[in-house]
Amino acid sequence: MASTLFPADFVWGAATSAFQIEGSPLAEGAGPSNWQAFCHQPGRVINNDHGDVACDHYRRYPEDIRLMQEIGLQAYRFSLNWARILPEGRGRLNIAGLDFYKRLLDALENAGIAPYVTLHHWDYPLALSERGGWQQRDSAPWFADYAAVVFQQLGPRVSHWSTFNEPWVMVHEGYVAGSHPPGLQHMAAARDATHNILRAHGLAVQAFRAETQGEIGIVVNLEPKDPASESAADLAATRRADAWMNRQFLDPLFFGRYPEELADIWGASTEHFPEEDFRLIQSPIDFVGINYYSRSVVRDAPRNLPFRTDRVEPPAEKTTDMGWEIFPEGLTRCLLWVHERYGDIPLYITENGAAFDDGPNPEGRITDQRRTHYFRAHLLAAQEAIAAGAPLKGYFAWSLLDNFEWAFGYAKRFGLIHVDFETQTRTLKDSAHFYREVIETAGASLQNMR
Ligand code: FCB
Repeated sequence: MASTLFPADFVWGAATSAFQIEGSPLAEGAGPSNWQAFCHQPGRVINNDHGDVACDHYRRYPEDIRLMQEIGLQAYRFSLNWARILPEGRGRLNIAGLDFYKRLLDALENAGIAPYVTLHHWDYPLALSERGGWQQRDSAPWFADYAAVVFQQLGPRVSHWSTFNEPWVMVHEGYVAGSHPPGLQHMAAARDATHNILRAHGLAVQAFRAETQGEIGIVVNLEPKDPASESAADLAATRRADAWMNRQFLDPLFFGRYPEELADIWGASTEHFPEEDFRLIQSPIDFVGINYYSRSVVRDAPRNLPFRTDRVEPPAEKTTDMGWEIFPEGLTRCLLWVHERYGDIPLYITENGAAFDDGPNPEGRITDQRRTHYFRAHLLAAQEAIAAGAPLKGYFAWSLLDNFEWAFGYAKRFGLIHVDFETQTRTLKDSAHFYREVIETAGASLQNMR
């Protein structure tokens, strides 16, 4: 018997980010970004791929919005390239860059698609990187000034905003692993970046309340950390991994303090920062966005400083093209964990999806069954969390389009829509048709297929 699995007002969407799809990074007066510069340093990105063209969404957005309508999307999550709006990161406004986002928002409104806008999804004005970026305390007011300009200019057209996408990735990949800009491996810089990003978030939330109306939140990536064994060492390693990824940002946002395990990793006290910073960081928000892909199984690895942890490789047949384990029940667990630990705040799944490299068959169809199965299993896992009491308000598939997957370039395809990067031809994959039916039936169609 078909039943409605999701609330009638559940929001169904798909997500992208500016640098991953727009292309034309320097068009019409835009300033360079950290990612644009990073891609052009040989060896940083697989194949030395870059974002100069990407999906050419900067010019093809009307077509992309028609495709969103074809899928039946109710909402579209995307981000702004800060350096299009403020080419030097602060000060001078670039009207042409702002106008691009106004055109995009107008076109979405005409299509009846609600915008969910992220202020910062990793592309950062190069001029500010050169001034020290997130390591500087000043980076928080720089971000708040940018946010205030955006709220003044675009506020009335948008009802849902996020400050940051996945600050953990910004800090871990940018300042510890060094695989994203600024490409550092420096724990004190990582700690300062975390703190300044959180201060920037708090100031932007305050600017939002002063300038406009609507809802504002932050987007974090979460994954269950499961111990490889019940040994005390593996359990402690698992707690460290969990604090580092899952609690590093949410604890200060909701409790006004860093998890104590971070002292071990930072090699410095978690009480290093002024008390008033934490009051700012705790500025009330309206929702939390959760990006969920996978989980990790963790074991103790005393020599892997400073984390002293290691991840157990999942069996290849259980993984996506990223090598990430397919683990739908982890999504249920994350949603319930956030609800239980941080209280009754509304939640969105702001990203969820899988990389699989299925291209067109001889008839031109893309039969990406593995992606469809991934989505189906995760949507059922989300529904289970709702049934168990998680206040989940919406789901955004990652991603609308195959796109520039950061240090992996164009080698990993996450799209509901296939993009031929030679010709820019777009083709809806079977998973997009599947998603269309899910949306049309508010989830009831999930019951019909096994
Ligand atoms: C997330 C990012 C997103 C995309 C997916 C695969 O970490 O937010 O931009 O790269 O992973």
